[in-house]
Amino acid sequence: MEKLNPAAIAKIDEIVAKHKDEPGPCIVMLHDVQNEIGYIPFEAMEKIAEACGSSVAEVYGVVMFYAQFTTEPKGKHVINVCLGTACYVKGGQKLIDQAVELTGAPINGTSSDGLFSLDATRCLGACGLAPVAVVDGNTIGLATENNKLLTALKKIIAEEKAASLRA
Ligand code: FES
Repeated sequence: MEKLNPAAIAKIDEIVAKHKDEPGPCIVMLHDVQNEIGYIPFEAMEKIAEACGSSVAEVYGVVMFYAQFTTEPKGKHVINVCLGTACYVKGGQKLIDQAVELTGAPINGTSSDGLFSLDATRCLGACGLAPVAVVDGNTIGLATENNKLLTALKKIIAEEKAASLRA
């Protein structure tokens, strides 16, 4: 297991100290760690379990239950493609295949350059706009129309290339 950097450990300690005396602290701590660090490392589960008087297994169970928590670091850009029934029927699978090809990220994984994470999700509650994708928190409805998703991803790739040339 890769060791966490000291800044991430300090951030986890700060989150645990902030919420440990609040009601329902476990889930709040998990939310904050996910938001601040981008995933829930094992060290965070240990610290949260200790602060909440739970076992690490119980905290791990909570992490596994909620789709918004992840135990792996995410890429810089996060793509969710809905594979719920309505989206699947309207081309969701094709969308996700195209996203894999363009970004190099496997389904439910992260590209080797760390730029993209790609997740297949269940219904996002916007079936009227099927097929739906979400890129960095921005919802793209009717995502196959005019290759909207691909255009958005190509734009990000171009911006990242330009940024790396400037660096
Ligand atoms: S099935 Fe995709 S938003 Fe509902």
